[in-house]
Amino acid sequence: MFELTSTSPEQTLLLGEAIASQLQRGDCLTLDGELGVGKTQLVRGLAGGLNIDPHQVASPTFVVMHEYEPREGSCNNPNSQEKISDEVSKDSTPTQGPASGGASGGASGGGGGIWLIHIDAYRLNDSAELDQLGWKDEQDQTIMVIEWADRVAEALPADRLAIFISHAGLEQRDSIFTGHGRWADRLETLEKRLRTL
Ligand SMILES: Nc1ncnc2c1ncn2[C@@H]1O[C@H](COP(=O)(O)OP(=O)(O)OP(=O)(O)O)[C@@H](O)[C@H]1O
Ligand SMILES: [Mg+2]
Repeated sequence: MFELTSTSPEQTLLLGEAIASQLQRGDCLTLDGELGVGKTQLVRGLAGGLNIDPHQVASPTFVVMHEYEPREGSCNNPNSQEKISDEVSKDSTPTQGPASGGASGGASGGGGGIWLIHIDAYRLNDSAELDQLGWKDEQDQTIMVIEWADRVAEALPADRLAIFISHAGLEQRDSIFTGHGRWADRLETLEKRLRTL
């Protein structure tokens, strides 16, 4: 377990990008913390780091599951760092329509890019409802991030990176990172990377 502080929305984007640089297909991340604490903002950073247009990332969301495709022709190597912080405005307009049960079979990215599956469990009542989304079908080929994961705790994969964000001031947010299952061994490498920010 380790803890990091962000002092601005922009810094949270950078944090998300840096986390993305450590991710691989099949990874699952969970984001918890109270309303408006910055979970979706962190997902925007993840998206940018995966060469996915961060403007697609919607908040607040009335859609439980979003599937974000990498930019055309990209092989979104998570190690290539693209700075998106200036590109993302706080009022970004969601362009993603309702998820319709599968990324057209393309979640593995025909062009080599990795899709990001973004689930907001806020409106789910229990783990069974999460299972009904069919998200596990694509899990090993995509990167999965789940907001409000505590609400569906029983359905979460054993291997996951859990991030708990809390308010620590006007624009200050503290994030606690915990590695479950195989993520326990990856935590040290992740921390080293994030401490370089
Ligand atoms: N350090 C920070 N990191 C992230 N967001 C911040 C920070 N400081 C201020 N903010 C602001 O906090 C808000 C976070 O909103 P966001 O939608 O990301 O929260 P959320 O946790 O996803 O909320 P919800 O529970 O409703 O889904 C944004 O308006 C953002 O600009
Ligand atoms: Mg959110």
